[in-house]
Amino acid sequence: MLKLGVNIDHVATLRQARFRNREETSRSEPDPVAAALACERAGCHGITAHLREDRRHIVDSDVVRLRRSIGTRLNLEMANTPAMVDFALAVRPDIVCLVPERREEVTTEGGLAVAANLSAITETRKRLGDAGIDVSLFIAPDAREIDAAARSGAGFVELHTGAYAEAYHQKAPRQNELERLIAGASQAHGVGLKVNAGHGLTLENLALIHLVPHLVELNIGHSIVSQAIFTGIETAVRDFLGAMATYKSS
Ligand code: PXP
Repeated sequence: MLKLGVNIDHVATLRQARFRNREETSRSEPDPVAAALACERAGCHGITAHLREDRRHIVDSDVVRLRRSIGTRLNLEMANTPAMVDFALAVRPDIVCLVPERREEVTTEGGLAVAANLSAITETRKRLGDAGIDVSLFIAPDAREIDAAARSGAGFVELHTGAYAEAYHQKAPRQNELERLIAGASQAHGVGLKVNAGHGLTLENLALIHLVPHLVELNIGHSIVSQAIFTGIETAVRDFLGAMATYKSS
């Protein structure tokens, strides 16, 4: 069964729009931890949170509270910096997804440059692995990066679906991006990596993601939180789970 990890950053984005300068964010609304628990009640398989260097949405205490509160898996997205690695080792999420991070970007725009930073990523993978934390690498569906991801010893890759989502309404570019995802998932599976995917996925563009083989989990945030404004977050999660239910992995 294709699993759903809900990225609750966007709940925190809304909170920070009003409460950024308050010290005790946990008493402000909307609370991303309460949202995570509602997503779990609706049947999601994991909760994803991205602790950005500038703490623009999720803050450290959110991650600590998520770790204590949720019953599914906690996936912590973070940059590969010494401070973030120390934080992850202290909080112990189930899985860390290493992502690239540029301060000026609105959201994570590109994939991680694994081949160019193989020794640093391998070192972090080992430190986290020794602490019992799985590691996933958020990468473009690029043969060189997938090969490097396998060499790093990571258990998972998360294929960046942002380019596919951007191209979705133009037939030829969409087909091209879909083929890149299909080839990337096949290659990653072939070298023993487990394959997740995410970024920019919606109820509409999910339909063709069913053509990408070997997927274990999708991480979806913005569209679920957007739909939640109209339907409530539990219904939004159920709608996405319903749209994923007929996926066959190969
Ligand atoms: N996966 C990763 C690694 C991300 O950085 C993001 C964006 O926060 C997502 C998945 C979810 O993307 P979206 O919010 O567009 O669904």
